Amino acid sequence: MLNDLPEQAPDKILMLMQMYREDPREQKIDLGVGVYRDAEGKTPVMRAVKAAEERIWKTQETKAYTGLAGDPAYAAALSRMILGEAHDEGRIAAVATPGGTGAIRQAFEMIGRASPEATIWLSAPTWPNHPSILKHLGRPMAEYRYFDAKTGLVDFDGMMADLAGIKEGDVVLLHGCCHNPTGANLSLEQWQQVADHLKAKGALAMIDIAYQGFGDGLDADAAGTRLIVKTLPEVLVAASCSKNFGIYRERTGLLMAIGEGPDAKKKAQGTLNYLNRQNFSFPPDHGARIVTTILDDEALKADWMAELEDVRNGMLALRQQLADELRQRSNSDRFDFIARHRGMFSRLGATPEQVDHMRDENGIYMVGDSRINIAGLNANTVPILAQALVDAGV
Ligand code: LMR
Repeated sequence: MLNDLPEQAPDKILMLMQMYREDPREQKIDLGVGVYRDAEGKTPVMRAVKAAEERIWKTQETKAYTGLAGDPAYAAALSRMILGEAHDEGRIAAVATPGGTGAIRQAFEMIGRASPEATIWLSAPTWPNHPSILKHLGRPMAEYRYFDAKTGLVDFDGMMADLAGIKEGDVVLLHGCCHNPTGANLSLEQWQQVADHLKAKGALAMIDIAYQGFGDGLDADAAGTRLIVKTLPEVLVAASCSKNFGIYRERTGLLMAIGEGPDAKKKAQGTLNYLNRQNFSFPPDHGARIVTTILDDEALKADWMAELEDVRNGMLALRQQLADELRQRSNSDRFDFIARHRGMFSRLGATPEQVDHMRDENGIYMVGDSRINIAGLNANTVPILAQALVDAGV
């Protein structure tokens, strides 16, 4: 049987991680996978996470199962952090999931159970795992224009023109903030236009929010999601704590299915629990418990927010430095969009050949579509990247 398996192409982002590890050069720079790194290139455990783990270690008396949806206190704390003033207990069904990817997978499965005909609309481009999971599940999908490669910003006219084609019951997948891979984001006015359009069409929104706190701040980054939840009767929200709590390997995600009221909530909760049971039974708890411990404790939460702010401001400073270096070295303002982008990623506009060239010549690793992880840089490597981009003719 095993010999009959088809050859499986490796995931491009994860393959890049491997290539970087195997590169013997000392001066190499990893701008590939979306993992935060400080100026020393380390991905530290956040202070509040360490403190929460210590507290859990001291007080936890059992490792027995929680429930299929995970600990309700986790969903309560995280859903409040994400939804803020749009939080309405009576509308929200939620399950803990193994990471944001687990939440996305369960959301796609849930859509398939409720409306197998529904087309799921993805931004062009989007995180490659979105279409990959949909293809794996055999779900209908379509693309809407999102990124204008010429300006490095959102092609909002193109987006709305393509979304004119959505049908009632279709699902439009939006990145809550810090768009992956482009770094270009909707303004609040644009979010409202999208929300009004989906409402008029009778379509659903699904929001993937994996970088809350990495863009303009915890509340600002959730503003589009909150607006959508207030405007539309039905919304799915897939959230990840991997980046903002720095607990990548703990696999800590949450899927919320937000409906019109108690009946929808009850049905959605039943389906979410069922899907967890079919796929892995109980969701992992350790990361979720860390998050709950932090969010439910004022001092820990304040410390976590302060460290997250430092991370966010560090990335903003690197963005500005890179844009300034490129302005100087290219003698043009065509890279100014880098300072306007938000989150971990920016798509720089290099061709795949230029990306390969910079890897071979300069030991600079970025995804083939020229997405860089801004947190892979530091003040010393920014000028190296800027010069390599100019030398490669980008
Ligand atoms: C990324 O886009 O690099 C991250 O979301 C990590 C991943 O799983 O791809």
